[in-house]
Amino acid sequence: MTSFRTLDLADVKGRRVLVRVDFNTPMANGRVADTTRLQRVVPTITEIADKGGKVILLAHLGRPKGVPNEAESLRPVAAALQEVLQRPVAFAADCVGEPARAAIAKLRGGDILLLENTRLHAGEEKNEPGFVAQLAANGDMFVNEAFSASHRAHASIAGLARQLPAFAGRVMQAELEALGKALDHPARPLMAVVGGAKVSTKLEALGALVDKVDLLVIGGGMANTFLAAEGKAIGRSMCERELLDAARSILAKPKAADCQIVLPVDVAVAQQFEAHAPSHIVSVDHVGEHDMIVDVGPKSVAHIESLLARTKTLVWNGPLGAFELPPFDEGTNAVAQTAARLTREGKLLSVAGGGETAAALNRAGAANGFSYVSTAGGAFLEWLEGKELPGVAALAQ
Ligand code: 3PG
Repeated sequence: MTSFRTLDLADVKGRRVLVRVDFNTPMANGRVADTTRLQRVVPTITEIADKGGKVILLAHLGRPKGVPNEAESLRPVAAALQEVLQRPVAFAADCVGEPARAAIAKLRGGDILLLENTRLHAGEEKNEPGFVAQLAANGDMFVNEAFSASHRAHASIAGLARQLPAFAGRVMQAELEALGKALDHPARPLMAVVGGAKVSTKLEALGALVDKVDLLVIGGGMANTFLAAEGKAIGRSMCERELLDAARSILAKPKAADCQIVLPVDVAVAQQFEAHAPSHIVSVDHVGEHDMIVDVGPKSVAHIESLLARTKTLVWNGPLGAFELPPFDEGTNAVAQTAARLTREGKLLSVAGGGETAAALNRAGAANGFSYVSTAGGAFLEWLEGKELPGVAALAQ
C-alpha cells in the first residue's frame, strides 16, 4: 500500500469539503433499516464540521443507472443521519446543478449537507469528465470516506480525487492501515480463512491468496466443492460441479507456492437445510447419500485452532458453516472466539471483512475482539484478490 493523504493535512476551515461516504444502506418502507454505515462516518463528519469546514456529503443508493426515482432517493438518509449525528443535516434534491449550488451557497462553517444520489446521473458510473467537473465545482477539496465503494472507478470516487486536493477520511485511513498490516507486510505465519456459500464469487481471491498466505483454511458451502474435487462423496450438499477443475487447480497450486490448504476433516450433516434440523458429525469420508453438510465438525475446529495458535496474522472472509441456521454456527463461533482471544492476548493481528462475515462475528460475540472488521463486501474481496482499488489509488501521495 502506498502512502496516502489523511485529514491531518487538510485545512478545512471555511472551505467546502466534498466527502464521499457509502450510504448504500438497506431501506424498509422509505426509511433507513440499518444505520451502521451512517454511524461509522460520524467521526469524520464531526471532525470536519468542528474544524469549521462546510461538510458536503456525496453518496449513492442502489443501482438506478441514471434514472431518477423516489425509491432510490437519499432524502430519508438525511433524516436518519440527523438523528445519528444529533445535528441538523440539510438535503439538496440534486448532487449537481442549481439545487446543489443553492444549498451549498447557504452553508456556513460547521454545517452539514447531503446531496442527492450521485447514481441518478449516468455520468457517475461512467466517470464522465463533464460530470466530474460539475461535482468538483461544488467543493474546494475532497475526502474519500467510502472504502466499501472504492472498487468502483466512478466520478464521485475516483474522478473527484483526481480533480481536487484529496484526502482519506478517518475510517478509510483506519481501513487502509489495518489491511496494509494484514496483507502487505504481515507478520508470519499468515492465515486466510475463506468461507461462505460459493466458490464462484471467491475464485480469484482464493487463487491470489494461495500465492500470499502460509495457511489457507477453506470452509462453508464452498469447501464442499473442494471435497468433491478430491473425489469425496458429499451427498446432497451444495456444490458447484462446474468448478471442480478450478478447485483442483487451486488445490494443486500450494506445492509451488508453499502454502498449506486446510479443508474440513469432519462435518456436521443434516437432512434438512433449516435451523435446529437433526444433525450429526461424520468424517468427510463418510458423508451419506442423503446428507447435507451444514458446518465444520469439532475435529476440524480443533485443527484450525491449533494452527491459529501459531499464526501471527489472520485474514477472514466468509463463515465456516450455515451460521444463520443455529446450531450450524458452532464452527464459525468457536474459531471466531479463539481468534478474538488470541488477538486480545496480543498474539494475533486479525482482520475480517464482508457484510456476512461481520454479521457472523457479531453473532459469535467476537467482532470486538478482532483487530479490525471491515463491513465492505465487494471492495474487501477485490482487495483480497490483490487488485488496486481505483478510489484508493487516487488518494496515493
Ligand atoms: C456496497 O454496498 O457494497 C457498495 O456501496 C458498492 O455498491 P455497488 O456494488 O452497487 O457498487
